[in-house]
Amino acid sequence: MKGIVLAGGSGTRLYPLTVATSKQLLPVYDKPVIFYSLSILMLSGIRDILIISTPHDLPQYEKLLGTGEALGLRLSYAEQASPDGIAQAFLIGEDFIGSDSVALILGDNIFYGNGLKSLLKKAVNNTNRATIFGYYVEDPERFGVIEFDEHDKVISIEEKPKSPKSNYAVTGLYFYDNRVVQYAKQITPSARGELEITDINQHYLAASALDVTFLGRGFAWMDVGTVETLIAANNFVKIIEDRQNIKIAALEEIAYKNKWITKDALIEITKKYNKTAYGKHLMKVAEGKFKY
Ligand code: G1P
Repeated sequence: MKGIVLAGGSGTRLYPLTVATSKQLLPVYDKPVIFYSLSILMLSGIRDILIISTPHDLPQYEKLLGTGEALGLRLSYAEQASPDGIAQAFLIGEDFIGSDSVALILGDNIFYGNGLKSLLKKAVNNTNRATIFGYYVEDPERFGVIEFDEHDKVISIEEKPKSPKSNYAVTGLYFYDNRVVQYAKQITPSARGELEITDINQHYLAASALDVTFLGRGFAWMDVGTVETLIAANNFVKIIEDRQNIKIAALEEIAYKNKWITKDALIEITKKYNKTAYGKHLMKVAEGKFKY
C-alpha cells in the first residue's frame, strides 16, 4: 500500500501565521504539524509516501524530510499548483500509486488514542474496499458527515451539510483500493470549486464498498485549521507528553520499532537532536526504556 500526505492549501484561516510558510510546517508543541500525519501512515506500516504541497512550500518539506531514508521511508514529492480539492491528490499521484492501494491523510490532521495502530492495520488489510473513520463532533456542518442506520450501516455522506444528519464527521484519513484513481477522474468540481473527497466516498458507498470505523471516546482527533484549534492541539500534545515525559509522533522511534532503521542509525540521529527533549526521548528508545 502507498501513502499520500496532502499538505497543500493556502492556510488563509491562519493568516498572518501562514503568509510566508505552510500550515503543516507550523509547530504543534515540539514538532512540525506534518510529523503527526506522517506518523499515522508509518504506524500503518506504509513506507512509500508521496508528499503533496504547493510549488512555494514543497522545497521546505524536502528540506525537512529529505529522501526519507533516515526514517526508513521512500519519500516522493509532488506539487499541487492550486488548491483544487483533496481528491485531486489521486490525479497528481496517479503514477506514484500505480496499481497499488493507497492511504491518504490530510497533513493538518492529528490522531491520538490507545489501540489506533490495530485500527490502522485493519484498514490496511481491508482489501478491495475503502475505510474511512468517523468521529463525534459538536460542529458536524464543518465536515463531511456520515448518516447511518441502527446497524451502523452507512446511508449517506454529505459534505458540509447545512442540516447534518448526524454528529459524526469524516476525519481526514482514508484508505482506498486502486479504483480510487478512476473515481477521481469521474468526479467534477463542487460549488466551492474543489474535487471533493466526499464525492469519492459516495462512489464507494454506491458500490457497497465503503466501511466506516468509528473512533470512540478515548480518541482525540483534531485538525489545526484555525488559531484556536492550533493552540488546542499544542496544549493537548504538551499535556500528553509532559505527563510521562514521552514524545508522540517521534518518527524515528516509529521507524525503529517497525524495524526500518537499526539501533546504530537511531543513535546517530539522536546526535542531531541532542539539545532537545525530542533527542533525549530517542536516546531512551535506543536504550530500550519503553516497553510499548
Ligand atoms: C475536508 C473534507 C471533509 C472532512 C475534513 C476533515 O474538509 O472536505 O469531508 O471532514 O476535511 O478534516 P476541508 O478541510 O476541505 O474543509
